[in-house]
Amino acid sequence: MAEVIDGEAVAAEVRSGIADCVDTLASAGARPGLATVLMSDDSASETYVSMKQRDCEEVGIEGIHVDVDADAPATALFDTIDDLNARADVHGVLVQLPVPEHVDRRAVLRRIDPEKDVDGFHPENVGRLVAGDARYKPCTPHGIQKLLAAYDIDTEGADAVVIGRSDIVGKPMANLLIQKAPGGNATTTVCHSRTADLEAKLADADIVVAAAGVPEFVDGSMLKPGAAVIDVGINRVDADTEKGYELVGDVDYDSASEVAGAITPVPGGVGPMTRAMLLYNTVKSAGRRHGVDVTLP
Ligand code: GUN
Repeated sequence: MAEVIDGEAVAAEVRSGIADCVDTLASAGARPGLATVLMSDDSASETYVSMKQRDCEEVGIEGIHVDVDADAPATALFDTIDDLNARADVHGVLVQLPVPEHVDRRAVLRRIDPEKDVDGFHPENVGRLVAGDARYKPCTPHGIQKLLAAYDIDTEGADAVVIGRSDIVGKPMANLLIQKAPGGNATTTVCHSRTADLEAKLADADIVVAAAGVPEFVDGSMLKPGAAVIDVGINRVDADTEKGYELVGDVDYDSASEVAGAITPVPGGVGPMTRAMLLYNTVKSAGRRHGVDVTLP
């Protein structure tokens, strides 16, 4: 049976290191602040944002939250971003995605001050990441790098398959895995909805990052024995539970854990790491702003 990669435990260690960074900043008279902005009525997005705010509180980061009516014009969101960009007490600005259809997502991401772009989605920060000079690594792929390192899963020379080509996970994950740097140096294949023979790609994969957004898309029969399987999916599927749904990943956990060498559960795998790395980028931003060396975890 596969070793279970405990994202909650690794994230707790990261948060503890972040709390030390917050203390260092406090000694220099600075308090990091993270602003979250929600322009959506989607209950999953509301949950994610409130978890991010709760994490801030735990580590001593000042959490600021702004709701923008989902039916408001795009200018309402742009004005909110401009205000947060200008605030000295705000070091990170995160607009929870997706935004409503009438709002141009790319224009939103361009509007955020790149120095406060703790998601790492502004084109300037994407460019820096691709160039091997990242300012803020996007939180989910960065968290996955940390998880792999915590479990001594070597990316160097490994064959990695990333399933999904989103701007949030797939593309930055592939970019990190191919960097000539620790946590990189993997031979990386990006698969997506038009990939002709996914099974053939997966059969050789030492590391699989499943970020397709399709419930239980990957099963054990598709995996190379001993592979490390990182499940980014958080899919709500109808179930006879109190909430009326249950969370499942992009990987069929039961069959995959019989074949894989290591696997992340859903929930409790990648999700907590994504949130921890948001705190990481926020204290990094505050350190940069105030000229304080925060010794990141
Ligand atoms: N929606 C889903 N994942 C993310 C994320 O990492 N950042 C933002 N801003 N929105 C998201």
